[in-house]
Amino acid sequence: MKQHILFVDDEPNILKGLQRSLRPLRKCWDMSFVESGRAALEKLEEKACDVIISDMRMPEMDGAQLLQQVQKSYPMMVRIILSGHSDQELIMKSVKSAHQYLSKPCEKETLINAVNRACSLKALMNKKSLQLVISGIDTMPILPSLYSRIMAELRSNSASTAGVGDIISQDVGMTAKVLQLVNSSFFGVPRHVASPAEAVVLLGIDVVKTLILSIEVFSEYRQRTLSLIPVSRVYEHCVKTGVIAKKIAEMEKKDKETSENAMISGLLHDLGRLLLAENFPEDYQEVMDLVKQEQCGIHEAELEILGVTHAEIGGYLLSLWGLPDNIIEGVTFHHTPSACIAEGFDLCGIVHVANLIEYHERVQPGVWENLVGLDQKYIEKQGLTGRIFLWRDNLRIS
Ligand SMILES: [Fe+2]
Ligand SMILES: [Fe+2]
Repeated sequence: MKQHILFVDDEPNILKGLQRSLRPLRKCWDMSFVESGRAALEKLEEKACDVIISDMRMPEMDGAQLLQQVQKSYPMMVRIILSGHSDQELIMKSVKSAHQYLSKPCEKETLINAVNRACSLKALMNKKSLQLVISGIDTMPILPSLYSRIMAELRSNSASTAGVGDIISQDVGMTAKVLQLVNSSFFGVPRHVASPAEAVVLLGIDVVKTLILSIEVFSEYRQRTLSLIPVSRVYEHCVKTGVIAKKIAEMEKKDKETSENAMISGLLHDLGRLLLAENFPEDYQEVMDLVKQEQCGIHEAELEILGVTHAEIGGYLLSLWGLPDNIIEGVTFHHTPSACIAEGFDLCGIVHVANLIEYHERVQPGVWENLVGLDQKYIEKQGLTGRIFLWRDNLRIS
């Protein structure tokens, strides 16, 4: 089926350039080009679209405002910003409403790749078995409140690191938890962190806000005490996986944003287990029994009993919350990175390896010879076979 893509830019020359270079794609893409936010909204009323790709700086309605509107009225649409401005403030404003950012001038291949990735993720989220399970969940967890307030602060015109620190400081319980986590040995911060504002400066807003997100989400489950799953252990595993994922990304010389997103993805990668265990306790008991009997992976047992995995349901939840696509991919494909269409050693692979290293280091520190559950095909394709031990050794030193 053809994807309908809507391009929005106030500069007619840019639209013409896009139209010209993307013409060969007419067979698979049905494309529309409009010159303002208002024209884009009118177009959407006329015709349903799968993807919107918008400029950031436009008169009347900027890209952030347009995408916010689109998110509200057409939540299933893929939203991409294509901007020539590396304007931090404007990008912050659209941080929640855009799935992806591309910078101008953008290579044709990069644009095509971004659209294809976003569409394949969307198709996966629409998968029947996944929708069936989701329809059996009474209420999907909503984005927690403190996290939402931080996101609102980041979107405001006066967004600042100090402002985010202040918001966290007002919540005494959360401040204690964040500081405890940041100062814990496995987090590896070189000096003692005394305030949320300092944590924000040292680790970056994205990392701190995700720590808060994970603390809020996991503590909700902890209150309800899931009998099938030791929530504290899953949480500790997730935090450590996040830290390892960030370190691997840094060793592989990924940029700062990718490294931070790797951590976010790692922190949330097993969230789906809690969601499944809480909503389908009987089925999940069967899952755990099957794992014991067959000595198989949890995700394999879930697929057999429930038809979906915790990785997919976790990815779905994160896409509802509007987190960036590569974070969703990292969660969705953390057991099966080969199934992800992202090119290169991206978050799906990084979280995959980090998850396994965390587990093996806990069970047999320093003595494991191979990672059980490793997607060999993926690792070979990326040419990374020799690097796993290198990562392990470097992780231990630091
Ligand atoms: Fe997992
Ligand atoms: Fe895991």
